[in-house]
This record gives sequence, structure tokens and C-alpha cells, in this order.
Amino acid sequence: MKFFIDTANLDQIREAQDLGVLDGVTTNPSLMAKEGISGEDNIISHYKAICEIVDGDVSAEVISTDFDGMVQEGEKLAALDDKIVVKVPMIKEGVKAIKYFSQKGIKTNCTLVFSAGQALLAAKAGATYVSPFIGRLDDISTDGLGLIEDIRLIYDNYGYDTEILAASVRHSTHILECAKIGADVMTGPLSAILALLKHPLTDIGLEKFLADHKNASAK
Ligand code: G3P
Repeated sequence: MKFFIDTANLDQIREAQDLGVLDGVTTNPSLMAKEGISGEDNIISHYKAICEIVDGDVSAEVISTDFDGMVQEGEKLAALDDKIVVKVPMIKEGVKAIKYFSQKGIKTNCTLVFSAGQALLAAKAGATYVSPFIGRLDDISTDGLGLIEDIRLIYDNYGYDTEILAASVRHSTHILECAKIGADVMTGPLSAILALLKHPLTDIGLEKFLADHKNASAK
């Protein structure tokens, strides 16, 4: 299972990369705005900075909602670095743009996916990744993980290559459940990745090992 970090914060991206388990980064316009990044030149520079830190794919989202605008933006983003994946919203024009990019060999991430039908369309259009937002479905009392199960079943039925990128992951249990279901990728905050480290018995066990070593050395 690939681990992507869902942030535009360079310090957090560096920390995840330093841990040695990072496979990529996803961003969105809200995450860029949260870091105070605005204006085309600054946004482009920020994507370049992210690409310098990580080894894997970096999703960069288009702002346009019409086919021509998405194509223009996406081609410019894709030219920045081989790591760039053009993130396209699941709307009619977006499906057309994903098909276009897939025929041109440009990687895509179909975002804002909330149903299995949307995921099926994304796969048929040739998306590299599909991003079902599990946390936001949970927020409205709908089964986010159940959607991942449905998409896994459908993609396996037909052998679609599109990778299921579980997005809007909020905590470590989401990560574990996605791994059990067989999501190809998860993207979440650094806190959710680091929470996988935690177990009280690990801390207690280490404390005892170190205390025993110290006592034995003192004898
Ligand atoms: O980047 C897309 C998705 O992961 C957003 O997550 O937490 O804003 O619902 P969230």
C-alpha cells in the first residue's frame, strides 16, 4: 500500500519523507491556501519545491472547470516535473479532460469522488488514480470505507488499472481499514501516519529494556 501525505506544508512533507515511508503527496486548492500560497507563479514554485523533496507522485489540482481550461492548466502542470499528477474534479468536463490526458500519457488523479458510479467513470476515462473521500462521507453519516470496498470489487471485476487512492483519511484506523480492503494508496495527514507508530506496550517495553540495561551495566 502506498502512503501519500495530504498537505502542502513543506516541513510536514520533509518529515514524512525523512521517515522513509512516503510514496507521494496530494494537494488541493484548500491545502495550498492554508499554507498562504496564492498567485500562479507562487503555486508553480511551490509544486516544484514539493517535487524536490519527494521521490513519488505529486498531485497538483486544476482550478478550471471547463475542458479547454483544464487541458491548458494540466499540460502546464505536467510539464513541471515527471512526478506531477494532474488532479481533475469528477465533473462532466473533468471526465473528458481525464480521457484526453490519459491518451497523451499524462498521469491524472480524479478527485471529489463520492460514489462507485463516479469511480467507474473515472476508470473508464483512464484515470491513473481515483480519489474517494472517505472522511467527508463519514462526516455525513455515510460509510466511507464501504465505498472503498465497492470500488475495489468493481475494479477487480474488470481489471481496471486505475489505482484506488483513499482520500480524506482522518486517522490511523482509516489507514488500517483501507489496507485490509486493498486500497492501492491512502493519502492523509502526517498525524495519521505517525499514529501508526503508537502502542502503549511499545513505550512500556522500551522503558523496561533500557532500565534493565542500565541496571545491569551499573553492577
Ligand atoms: O485532498 C483531498 C482530500 O484528502 C481532502 O481531505 O480532510 O479535507 O476531507 P479532507
